[in-house]
Amino acid sequence: MTLQVGLLYSRIRKDEKLLLTELRERDHEVTKIDVRKQTFDISAAPAAFDGLDIVVDRCLATSRSLYATQFFEAYGIPVVNSHETAAICADKVQNSLALEKAGVPTPATKVAFTKETAMDAIEEFGYPCVLKPVVGSWGRLMAKIDSESAAEAILEHKATLGHYEHKVFYVQEFVEKPGRDIRVLATDGEPIAAMVRSSDHWITNAAKGAETDVFDLDDEAVALVRKASDAVGGGLLGIDLMEIGDSYTVHEVNHTVEFKALDDAVETDVAATVVDWLEGKADAAADELEVTA
Ligand SMILES: Nc1ncnc2c1ncn2[C@@H]1O[C@H](COP(=O)(O)OP(=O)(O)O)[C@@H](O)[C@H]1O
Ligand SMILES: [Mg+2]
Repeated sequence: MTLQVGLLYSRIRKDEKLLLTELRERDHEVTKIDVRKQTFDISAAPAAFDGLDIVVDRCLATSRSLYATQFFEAYGIPVVNSHETAAICADKVQNSLALEKAGVPTPATKVAFTKETAMDAIEEFGYPCVLKPVVGSWGRLMAKIDSESAAEAILEHKATLGHYEHKVFYVQEFVEKPGRDIRVLATDGEPIAAMVRSSDHWITNAAKGAETDVFDLDDEAVALVRKASDAVGGGLLGIDLMEIGDSYTVHEVNHTVEFKALDDAVETDVAATVVDWLEGKADAAADELEVTA
């Protein structure tokens, strides 16, 4: 079946290029929707969206993702990932609450709203511990806090200079991981491929220059990936795990996930597997429409 696929984007990165190439090779029709040039009417879908079977949200900016997904859902156009998934994954507090609720092992985390209570949370964890922005990615603006004086300085900077989101203090235990973490790309909980990201730095994001290598998931990791995906409502997700001994903790689930580093690290054709899944999604959505019609 030939699909009409909408690709919502603001910048075509290598990830989007890989997807576009794969979609076109399979003769799907792609409508590129530049989110910066688009307006979204609350009462009717723009004509440009007519006939779309499915939309893939590849916005870089979280705020755009969060609103645009709501519009596509209002227009009755299937969108991946869903607004629910985006909303949970875009916010580290919601992410942690969802993982905890689903019984997925995740680092101990406390949230506070003032410098004073954040200091209490930090002291309860002891040093080192970790302070993260509630919204953000690529390992940006994260702090490993080694001492009381460092804690005071960081909290004061955030409280004085930070955007309001930085006045929500997300404090986490420091996990003594073995110099690396694990990134799994999964579609509705089904792992496509996984890699380890190794670095001398405690932050091991690929965007921070960590070295990547293919990683074979054991049964426990596969089960955790499924559970973590379900916890946030499923979709095309990047699930981040850290090793603790021979077990794991899941520190976050990402929703507009980059996969170029993974595609380079593994043998699997990542874009092809993603498009297989998209085709299945579009089919399922079409079947659902028939049932309701
Ligand atoms: N609690 C922690 N203890 C030790 N290392 C951590 C902890 N949290 C995050 N890290 C490291 O920092 C990286 C980025 O953290 P993450 O929570 O995934 O934020 P981002 O959304 O910016 O990717 C992780 O991949 C991991 O290497
Ligand atoms: Mg991460």
